[in-house]
Amino acid sequence: MTAKIVTFGISKGGCSKSTSSGITAHILSKTDKVLAIDLDGQGNLTSFLTGEYDICNAFQNKTILEGIIEGDVRPYIINIKHNLSLVPSNDFLATLSRHFYQKKMDYQALEKALEPVMEDYDWIIIDTPPALGEQTVLPLCAKSPAGSYAVIMFDGSMFAYFAIQKFLDIIEASQERHNPELEVAGILFSLIDSRAKENEPMKESVDEEYPNMAFKSIIKRRASTRRLALEGFENNSELDNALEFYVPFVEELKLRVQKQQN
Ligand SMILES: Nc1ncnc2c1ncn2[C@@H]1O[C@H](COP(=O)(O)OP(=O)(O)OP(=O)(O)O)[C@@H](O)[C@H]1O
Ligand SMILES: [Mg+2]
Repeated sequence: MTAKIVTFGISKGGCSKSTSSGITAHILSKTDKVLAIDLDGQGNLTSFLTGEYDICNAFQNKTILEGIIEGDVRPYIINIKHNLSLVPSNDFLATLSRHFYQKKMDYQALEKALEPVMEDYDWIIIDTPPALGEQTVLPLCAKSPAGSYAVIMFDGSMFAYFAIQKFLDIIEASQERHNPELEVAGILFSLIDSRAKENEPMKESVDEEYPNMAFKSIIKRRASTRRLALEGFENNSELDNALEFYVPFVEELKLRVQKQQN
């Protein structure tokens, strides 16, 4: 087994990157071995999967930052449950860019840190911050023989619509300079309010501008999905309802990354 790398991103805040990457990691782990990586100093994926909100203290010096600096994530992997592990993050990830400017690090730094575990997982699922800096570019530059993919999150808003092209530009730059085999897995519509009349025209615009990129699965806004951060994945009576829109998305994601490999 070699891990496929899937990075969730968009440089617009609150488009469900952390929620979607966390749920995707959870669903995949039912059948496959998954390593989730939190590359956002907000640590939302970390809190989502561990239930720990005091991330600064709980994970002090035990995060993806140390993994990248030392070139090996292994000491920082924590077990979440059967088949699901996580490399957490916390606020100190903000110091990552300092290492770049001091030239202690290059764009292959995350790839190098992941190398020792590439054969241990089927999937590496990465959450990124709403920005186009190193924390987003590092995962896009991380190569895997099994494939490296980006899922572009889109919440149906104008702000996010214009962020799509910027994210695609960053993908193209990463392909040209570091990771020629990086692929766009697709654009995922999330947080969609069934009653909002602008949904259909926004979807049409995306389909026209970026043909065949949008996933057919759409993640609608649901209170049970939002409450997952509170209720967790265990002993949660509304779990099936919370995950309902994500199950077909994960199936579609699996199919898309298979097809792109063939
Ligand atoms: N399908 C959904 N239904 C209802 N609420 C959702 C859904 N997806 C995400 N949310 C909620 O929307 C908010 C933003 O989601 P999330 O934090 O995952 O976005 P993000 O893109 O990671 O944000 P950031 O850019 O700050 O990292 C959160 O409060 C989350 O619980
Ligand atoms: Mg987030």
